[in-house]
Amino acid sequence: MEVVTALSDLRTRVGSARTSGDEVGLVPTMGYLHAGHVSLVRRARARCGFVVVSVFVNPLQFGAGEDLDAYPRDPEGDIAKLEAAGCDLLFQPSTEEMYPEGEPLTRVHVGLIGDDLCGRSRPVHFDGVALVVTKLLAACDPDAAFFGRKDAQQLALVRRLAADLSFRAEIVGCPTVRESDGLAMSSRNAYLSPEERRIAPRLFAALSTGAELVVAGEREPRVVVGKTLSVLAQEPRLDVEYVEVRDARTVQPLERLDGEVLLAVAARLGPARLIDNVVLHIDGTSVTVDAGEIN
Ligand code: PAJ
Repeated sequence: MEVVTALSDLRTRVGSARTSGDEVGLVPTMGYLHAGHVSLVRRARARCGFVVVSVFVNPLQFGAGEDLDAYPRDPEGDIAKLEAAGCDLLFQPSTEEMYPEGEPLTRVHVGLIGDDLCGRSRPVHFDGVALVVTKLLAACDPDAAFFGRKDAQQLALVRRLAADLSFRAEIVGCPTVRESDGLAMSSRNAYLSPEERRIAPRLFAALSTGAELVVAGEREPRVVVGKTLSVLAQEPRLDVEYVEVRDARTVQPLERLDGEVLLAVAARLGPARLIDNVVLHIDGTSVTVDAGEIN
């Protein structure tokens, strides 16, 4: 695996791969890699001849008072995991490389999708994600870019961004990877104390209970949200930010559950803000639950 820090080197290496006939796959990350990230790299490896992973803790997507300075980092561990997963090129830029003029004046705002759910408590977050993903797609111009369904709102936003800006890349959504007790893997799980770590799987337990209700025939969003909330409320240390049922593609509210439906939760637990979701594929009376996979 080669490691580059300059955008010009990223462009050159990707250009050579493309000239030799390889399809290019891109996996954007913020590092401190876990099995969820690695599953994205493996999917890119299975599909593309040349796999690029970016590791960049993007300051623009952190609001004032958020965890930019505390965000966990492990550059050596990341390199070992990426080598093992078959990454060809690691792009690891500095902040100066990505934002040479300092605070960018250009904004990429994906209206409706970015303003809702997590966007309500994190008003600058999705503009920061949209800008950095736009820069990475523009510099790398991959055939496919891989994103986790763990961040379902981010995935919906990136799909819309890529369509609106006519990027060539296919945006590939990949299953949420979970710990054996159901907790969705996240770099931010490192913030949890042992006691909080014991409580954290309740998010997935609550989503599973909500999903079971839909499988049993419930189609009223309010009822599914109420049942999911009731499971979360049994744990007083969870400070629930939202439980919502939405159209998975547009992230807009639904009158009745039908089609591809997102059941999503965000909650604070001690120093960590945790998010999780399941996607329900509803076609008449048939329901399939996409809850991801256990590592
Ligand atoms: P980060 O949180 O590092 O996540 C990088 C990618 O890994 C995202 O597509 C995310 O959805 C995916 N991912 C994280 N945890 C996962 C899990 N448990 N199972 C499956 N996939 C998982 O998301 C970001 O970084 C940033 O916002 C980024 C897109 C890189 C832009 O800065």
